[in-house]
Amino acid sequence: MSKILAIDTSCDDSSAAILNNETVLSNIVASQNQIHKKFGGVFPTLAKQAHKENLEPTILMALQKSKSTFEELDAIAVTTGPGLAPALEIGIGFAKELAEKYQKKIIAINHIEAHALSPLALNNGKKSHKEKTAKKNFPALAIVISGGHSEFILVNEIGKYKKIGKTIDDAAGECLDKVGRLLNLGYPAGSIIEQFAKKGHEGKFVFPKAMTDQKNFNLSFSGLKTYARNLIADLEKQKKLDKQTIFDLALDLQNAVFDQIIYKLERILLSPNLIKDEYPDRDFLKHLKKGNVPITEINEIWLGGGVAANITLRKKIRSLLKKYQKQSGKKIELKVPYSKKLCGDNAAMIGLTAYFKYQRKEFAQKNELDRKPNLEI
Ligand code: KG4
Ligand code: ZN
Repeated sequence: MSKILAIDTSCDDSSAAILNNETVLSNIVASQNQIHKKFGGVFPTLAKQAHKENLEPTILMALQKSKSTFEELDAIAVTTGPGLAPALEIGIGFAKELAEKYQKKIIAINHIEAHALSPLALNNGKKSHKEKTAKKNFPALAIVISGGHSEFILVNEIGKYKKIGKTIDDAAGECLDKVGRLLNLGYPAGSIIEQFAKKGHEGKFVFPKAMTDQKNFNLSFSGLKTYARNLIADLEKQKKLDKQTIFDLALDLQNAVFDQIIYKLERILLSPNLIKDEYPDRDFLKHLKKGNVPITEINEIWLGGGVAANITLRKKIRSLLKKYQKQSGKKIELKVPYSKKLCGDNAAMIGLTAYFKYQRKEFAQKNELDRKPNLEI
């Protein structure tokens, strides 16, 4: 048994959590959305100040809610990157101070790895969920889709990763947020776009299909944002940007973003040899009709990151997996975090990742612990 206090201050949320092995006992998130709303994005110096004020009460609340004390902790985990340097600094400083005061080990966590593993967190209490989630079938493909990242990561085992694709410019959530800002939807806009899209009529706007001519598993969303910006300017000029048009635009934009992810995910599943990064070319895909669909080595898919909360994205992935199963006979399970709170930035996923590192005895040297704003997986 290990009891871990986890801290995340990578961006604009101050979060603390307590985990008993993989089980989340408490997960407190102090959001700064109200502070950054007026800027339409995160303002680093204000984020730092808010972390300074919010982190200590957040940690105390996490301890109280889980009925834990500092003394009984086995380790303290903290995000060291990637993220905003001034924000990371506050979490690391607190973790060091607490580790010193209570003589605890420190575990340094990569925020992207934590998003990737977030579907494995166990809910305190639900036995059926526990049994299903605890069973892992490697290799898995982790898809991390957030405001800062859009990555496909092959997980050979926990701690052994190979990034096979990523966005070459904006992240998917960033694209939704930037277009949301142009439409004055508030920040962050992803969940608002999801709600608006439900009221939209499909196919009014035809967004360009990005990355389909690139023979790799990378993504690109900045072209969709530019296309939306021009579209919105035109509609405003023609005084046609009414409520229904915004709903329609939200739906077509959301589909364009997700369909690109689905397109590349399908190519990943159809790759003749994923380990060798082989991209299925057009001639190869033609033969698939004859029934010789490659059996991917991927056994399950883990979806994490703020955008993973989106129900349409989950549905699109599930329907692709069904289609693949029909073609190949292979069933691939989709695992998502057990609550929406675990999709966005939160410390529970940091604590979960720390649990695996604790088992491997991967502890950080307190004097070497430093922020790594550009850390990659
Ligand atoms: O993981 P996260 O909290 O922070 C980063 O590490 O980036 O992700 C935040 C992102 C924002 O871009 C936000 O608009 C998006 O996740 N998001 C959503 C939804 N909820 C949050 N995007 C689409 N649909 C949602 N329901
Ligand atoms: Zn994040």
